[in-house]
Amino acid sequence: MKRAILIHGGAGRVKKELWPSRIEGLKEAVLRGYEALLSKDDSIEAVVEAVAAMEDSGLFNAGRGSTISFKGTVEMDAAVMDWRSRFGAVGGVPNIRNPVRLARYVMEESPHRLIVGLEARNLAYRLGFKEYPIEELTGLRRVEEYLTRVKDKPSSFYGKLFESGKKIFTDTVGAVAVDSQGRVAAAVSTGGLLFKFGGRVGDSAIFGAGIMANAICAAVATGIGEYIMDSLLSYRIVEYRRYMSLEAACRKAMGFLTRYKGMDTAGVICIDRFGNLGWMHNTEMMGRAYMTDGMESPDVGMVGEGFIKV
Ligand code: GLY
Repeated sequence: MKRAILIHGGAGRVKKELWPSRIEGLKEAVLRGYEALLSKDDSIEAVVEAVAAMEDSGLFNAGRGSTISFKGTVEMDAAVMDWRSRFGAVGGVPNIRNPVRLARYVMEESPHRLIVGLEARNLAYRLGFKEYPIEELTGLRRVEEYLTRVKDKPSSFYGKLFESGKKIFTDTVGAVAVDSQGRVAAAVSTGGLLFKFGGRVGDSAIFGAGIMANAICAAVATGIGEYIMDSLLSYRIVEYRRYMSLEAACRKAMGFLTRYKGMDTAGVICIDRFGNLGWMHNTEMMGRAYMTDGMESPDVGMVGEGFIKV
């Protein structure tokens, strides 16, 4: 069976001058995931490696590039799920390196599904995880620069800040993959919404919302976590796929969310056990990249939906 990996770097909008670095970051991450797929032939390994590469890059709203809460804290969410519907997640975990690896630990080694906050960080320390040094947190730096620019704006300062903050961040990174045995997996990681309340956990740590997988299909979402939770977006795709093609399932789920919550709210990527791929967003853009057996180099893009049938 054909091996394949598809990743995204977050739904939202990105200034044109940042496109080249984003495209390069996506390319590196998808290649890292694909190399893992080749060397280990394990879809879990592939999605975790691809997401870890995006977390470390500092280019996306995840890991080193995470945005901050209203209290100025970094609180990351991440999850991993596989074809057996095994699930592990961490929520609101402060500045540790590669929360996606901690989520994998929760899935594979712990009796639990979701571990949050300071105890998630303590677990990471016990396992020997490192922190991102504060000076390397590019997300914090971007917010500081932004706050400096808007600091003299009048009255509804915070409202405007929250609204226009969307312009400096896209949301979340994710990956889905299938190995040569038709085993699918998904992984997701995020710094969450800019200026969220301290303690807020988003869809990326929630089973069925930001991530879902079963023996047939895997999906991850990006966008406004509250809306993704309200509509159980990833679950919908995986459930619909039982009865229809991947493309039809993806369109139906995104159609539901868009009618329910409006445009400019979310994006998804998905894969099935046959190696069909799909991505779709109702935002201005969503960077994505994929690589399958038989391709010489990855296909990378910043806008538009796409469905690859095998
Ligand atoms: N989609 C990520 C979040 O809302 O936290």
